[in-house]
Order: sequence, then structure tokens, then C-alpha cells
Amino acid sequence: MADGNEQKNEISRRDAVKTAAAGAAVAAGMITGAPWIQKVKAANDQIQLGIIGTGGRGYYHITHLNKLDGAKLVAACDIFQPNLDKAVNGSKDKPKGYKDYREVLSNKDVDAVIVSTPLYMHFPVTRDALLAGKHVFCEKSLVHSAEEVHALRKMVNERPKQVLQVGLQRRYSRFYQTAKQMVEKGLIGDVTNVYAQWHRNLINVPSATWTMKKNDPRGEDANWRLLRKYSGGLVAELGSHQMDIADWMFGSHFEFVSGVGGIDYFKDGRDVYDSVQLIFRYPKGQRLMASYISTNQHCALFGGQRAQFGECIMGTQGTIHITVGTDDEPALGMWYREPAKKVPDPGTAKAAVASASLASTGKGSRPLPILLSKDEITEQDSFMTRELKFAKRWLYAKGVMVPEEDRNPVDQQFIEFFECCRTLAKPKADLEIGLNDSSAVILSNLAMDESRRVYASELDKMGTGEAAKKKA
Ligand SMILES: NC(=O)c1ccc[n+]([C@@H]2O[C@H](COP(=O)([O-])OP(=O)(O)OC[C@H]3O[C@@H](n4cnc5c(N)ncnc54)[C@H](O)[C@@H]3O)[C@@H](O)[C@H]2O)c1
Repeated sequence: MADGNEQKNEISRRDAVKTAAAGAAVAAGMITGAPWIQKVKAANDQIQLGIIGTGGRGYYHITHLNKLDGAKLVAACDIFQPNLDKAVNGSKDKPKGYKDYREVLSNKDVDAVIVSTPLYMHFPVTRDALLAGKHVFCEKSLVHSAEEVHALRKMVNERPKQVLQVGLQRRYSRFYQTAKQMVEKGLIGDVTNVYAQWHRNLINVPSATWTMKKNDPRGEDANWRLLRKYSGGLVAELGSHQMDIADWMFGSHFEFVSGVGGIDYFKDGRDVYDSVQLIFRYPKGQRLMASYISTNQHCALFGGQRAQFGECIMGTQGTIHITVGTDDEPALGMWYREPAKKVPDPGTAKAAVASASLASTGKGSRPLPILLSKDEITEQDSFMTRELKFAKRWLYAKGVMVPEEDRNPVDQQFIEFFECCRTLAKPKADLEIGLNDSSAVILSNLAMDESRRVYASELDKMGTGEAAKKKA
């Protein structure tokens, strides 16, 4: 049984209703066409889509595109024939297969491309696609170097009639959007800290993508994630999602970052870190603490219900545990309250007792699942619908059921991308969000490499003519 104080710390049904309410280089001559003159399409026009890079992520995207209206996959491209064949055969649209991405870009029927190549190819392919007049959806992390940050910003800003969207799907999750609204409405007070982790146990659960494959005929192409010249390592592949969440929840970009990275366990020729701990300081004194390890997958969030990854958003009045769904597991959001404010009356006999109770660590609050707007009870609801919603919410609170998003955020990001291509609206995960995210990746790797505090402002001078001249 909960005692009186604990009861107060529990999240009330009124609080739950508030949350629910909150949830409301082109090879010259190859690329032809009319650069950066995209026609705005009618609402029911299908976007003619190409996909470049059909490995793990590209194929995953194809399986999701198969379930969506609004676009037709007319072209698929990969340099590795088995991955290309799998893509062409796996798409309901039976796209034409290409080995050279520039041929996809010179196809006038293609309105937009999805770029899901390894990181080092994001910029060249995106640049060439923009030059060819295409809209671009590029996977995270958007770019690989400071030079590319500056160059892409210039190119996209010069092309207001082309859309650039980044594959940061958490921005398209109703759970994360609800968490952001809770933050904006002050439900967890001043947000001072975010803790993020993405821990895997690659010893017991090896991953093909994070294992150095010595005998693969593709050589370095098969191991791109493990090599710095192609990849930003764990920080780019996993951390980038969570660094973006911290920027979003704090409403600003970090000021400086320090960290420790090491190749501590997997001494197999990789030159990216297999273990990373980072601390980012934000302008109002907030911190993001982020951890990426490869030897243990335990996750202390969500009462241990989930492993590997999640974020904990901490404010003066409460905490949110949140993680995105996968194809197998739903997204999860839990809300915990801080103890109610106690003000001791100085000078009274009770002061000593009160301050002693202030200092006690005490019990935690019981979590309440974060509700989505569809679970909100409205006046329009029929008696049966209201009863059903009450029952569902009771089951959510008991942990018997979890609220589910109507759509996987990966689907949602594509639906919204197609819409942006038609209307030229700004995507939720737009250029600046993608570039800030890439800057965080680039600078945190630098902080670990040079064992120093690296300021976000350093990027302004990195990769520019000035820095290049100094280097010469
Ligand atoms: N948003 C997410 O949650 C998420 C998840 C996984 C991967 N990703 C991103 O997707 C991208 C691809 O990752 P992956 O896991 O699919 O890697 P992968 O190695 O499985 O696939 C990459 C594919 O690109 C192909 N490729 C390489 N160079 C090419 C070129 N010049 N032209 C055409 N194809 C080329 C390769 O042959 C391979 O098939 C990465 O940037 C990764 O960070 C994002």
C-alpha cells in the first residue's frame, strides 16, 4: 500500500489527462534535366522515387515503402549485385536496377531519392542529387566532415524548391512529440539533464555490421562502419539519434563536449571506438550524458523491461523514460514525478524533522505510461468509447498494455517526406537539424581523439578555406 506522501507523488488521473491533451560531383554530362526546378505535385500525384544504397537500411526502407501509398519506387541502385537484386525483387513496384547512382539521377522520371549508402557517400550522392534537381531523403548521420557541413548548408539554402529531409525518425514519433509537448508545458519542470545509452552485447549477440569481416570479397566496403575514413563509429551510427533528442528537448544546440573513447575490447583492426562516454554541456548549464558500449546490453530504464537503448529526460518536477519502437516492440514512454516541494519552517521545532525528511532519499514514484492524444477522453466520445478508453488507460498504468503509435515513425517520416515533396513544406527533420546532429558526431569524436573539451563553435572554422590555408 502506498503511504500518504507516496500517494501525492503518484501521478494522478488529472495529470494523465494533461499529458494526453499535450499529445495532441557529378560526372559531367551524366546528370541532365532541369536542375532545381521541381514542379509542385497535385495531392494525389505519386512521387516517383529512387533509392540509392540497398543494404540493410535500404532494404528495410523498401519493405516499409511496400506498405505505403503516395510514392512509386521506380529506381533502385547498389554497387553490390546481391543487394541490388534483393531490392529489385523485394519491391512491390519492381523498380529498374542500377549500379551507378548517377544514372538514377539522370532519369527525368525520378522526383526524389532516398540515400541509404554508407556515411562517407551521403554527401557526394546528396550533392549530385540536388544538382540534378531531385528532392532528397538522406539517412542519418547526414554528413561525415566539417567541409561537408558547410557545403551542404550552402547548396540546400540555394535551392528553396528542393526538399532535404534526414532519417531521424524519432522526430516523427507521436511518443517523442508528446514528450516534447510535456517539456514545453512544464510538466517535468526545468529540463536540466538527459541521459542516453545504446549498449549492446556484441560478444553474446554478434552483429554482422559490427564484426570485422576478414574474408569478405568486398573488402573495406563490407566493413565501412568500423573504419574512420568511411564512418563516425558508434557515435554516428547510434549516438546521432540521441544527440538530436537532447537538442530537441533542451531547445538548443550544445556548447561544448568532452569524452572518453577507446578500442578496449574489439582489437580486430577497427579504428572506431568500441566504447564511448560523452558529456555535452548546453548553454543554460544543462547536460547530456551519453554512453555507447559493446559488451553489455542491460538498460536500467523502463524498470528493466527493455534492453540496449533509451533516453531519460530529467527535469526539476519529473522524468521521462522514452524509446522508439522497432518492428518487434512498441515505443515506450514512462513518466515519473519528483517529490512534492517541501518548505521547512526555519526556527520551529519541526524544522529539524522537516530537513531530515528533505534529505532522505525515500521511495521513487510509480511510473505512468505516456498517453497519446488518441487515448484522451473527449466529450464527443460515446459511453462505450469512454469506458473502453478508461479501461485501456487503467491497463497502461498497470503495465498490462502499452499505448501504441498508429504508425511506425519510419512510415510516418516517409509519408511526411512525400507530402513535403508535393508542397515544398519544411520537413520536421530538416537540413539544420541534420547538420547540428552531424556536427555533434564530428565534434564528439574529435573531443575523444584529442582528449579535450571541444566547443561547438569550433566547427565554424573547421573545414573552411581559412582552416585549410592554416593547414597548408
Ligand atoms: N535511421 C536509422 O535508424 C538507421 C538504421 C540503420 C542504418 N541507418 C543508416 O543507413 C545507412 C546505410 O546503413 P546500412 O546498415 O544499410 O549499411 P549497409 O552496409 O548494410 O548498406 C549500404 C549499402 O550501400 C551500398 N553502396 C555503397 N556505396 C554505394 C554507391 N556508391 N552507390 C550505391 N550503393 C552503394 C552498399 O553496397 C550496401 O549495399 C547508414 O548511413 C546508416 O547510418 C540508419
